[in-house]
Amino acid sequence: MEGEDRQGSLIERRKNDHIDICAKEDLSPGYQYWDDIRLLHRSLPEIDLDEVDTSSSVFGRRLSAPIVISAMTGGFGKAKEINAVLASVAEKYGLGLGVGSQRAALENSELAETYAVVRDYDVPLRIANLGLPQLVRQGVRASLDPEDGAAAMEMIEAHVLAIHLNYLQEVVQPEGDTCARGGLDAMERFASSLPLVAKETGAGMSRDTALRLKGAGVVGLDVGGLGGTSFSAVEYYRARQAKDVSRENLGKAFWDWGIPAPVSVVTANVGLPMIATGGLRSGLDVARAVCIGASCGGMAGRLLPAALEGRAELEQEVKMIVDELRAAMFLVGARNVDELAEAHALVVGRSRDWLDHMME
Ligand SMILES: Cc1cc2nc3c(=O)[nH]c(=O)nc-3n(C[C@H](O)[C@H](O)[C@H](O)COP(=O)(O)O)c2cc1C
Repeated sequence: MEGEDRQGSLIERRKNDHIDICAKEDLSPGYQYWDDIRLLHRSLPEIDLDEVDTSSSVFGRRLSAPIVISAMTGGFGKAKEINAVLASVAEKYGLGLGVGSQRAALENSELAETYAVVRDYDVPLRIANLGLPQLVRQGVRASLDPEDGAAAMEMIEAHVLAIHLNYLQEVVQPEGDTCARGGLDAMERFASSLPLVAKETGAGMSRDTALRLKGAGVVGLDVGGLGGTSFSAVEYYRARQAKDVSRENLGKAFWDWGIPAPVSVVTANVGLPMIATGGLRSGLDVARAVCIGASCGGMAGRLLPAALEGRAELEQEVKMIVDELRAAMFLVGARNVDELAEAHALVVGRSRDWLDHMME
């Protein structure tokens, strides 16, 4: 019991560190991959800005704009307040919302309310969250089963369940869950009874992985590519605080590990609904993502500082992002999100190199 308490407080401290570090530090790889996506300007848009309709559907849910606030938190004191702010703004702007990993609440039901608070808001798409490392056996620790997945969904009245694939984070963090054998089988087991979204968390997704996940029966992908929040960078900062030089070096070495987000969107397009996450900074980046094949864009790190300040600050940020999206749609002459998806996009720079080499 004492061991469990200690484990609980370690997880709580880690979650707190994540929020603090992600809000304060620049964790990106130093190259803006989304700037490699160029939308072709139309001097004669032949539509009025007022006509632009940003609404769209994903996983059968209607959003007012193709934007998901990506999974960030839950399971410790401050998280309830943060999730309430995120949910209130998702309700107001009609956006999707993911909660952070719910493992903590499955282990300790007292923590459930830090996630369940999102049910108090009319959020059009709620995404539950568990990690693949918890779906496979880690040493002596048993794996979760589909009933746990159903309980996580129930906790927030979710429409889909994201299973995060975060082995980059697990391998760089102290005592990470590094058993990965049987991961695809576990996805298949869960997908046979639950609407599963396979979600990377910043290291991107290859076509081969996307095809395997499709074969396992997932209903969608969140490609979570390189370009924004890097959990290797997060661990670098945590190791520095802990004066753990070897972990610090490990975090630094893998800082920009992964497949860039726009490259992942193009290569992992296997005909499943797809959330493009990883370094999106603006509504223009959301437009770029839709234009190259994503159903919607996901944002975490970009929204966190405002979310910590409060509802008014986050509302202001989200309004700006939706206005940018609308402006981009106007300038390519797209009346709605379907037309945006058909607009012409060029891929240049490092993302072009990646794609050319991947197709060799
Ligand atoms: C503070 C923080 C906590 C996160 N926790 C989770 C989590 O519990 N589960 C998950 O699937 N992803 C988690 N993520 C990853 C994000 O959902 C997202 O995939 C990643 O940050 C890349 O998006 P970004 O570049 O817009 O930040 C977290 C991100 C941040 C910033």
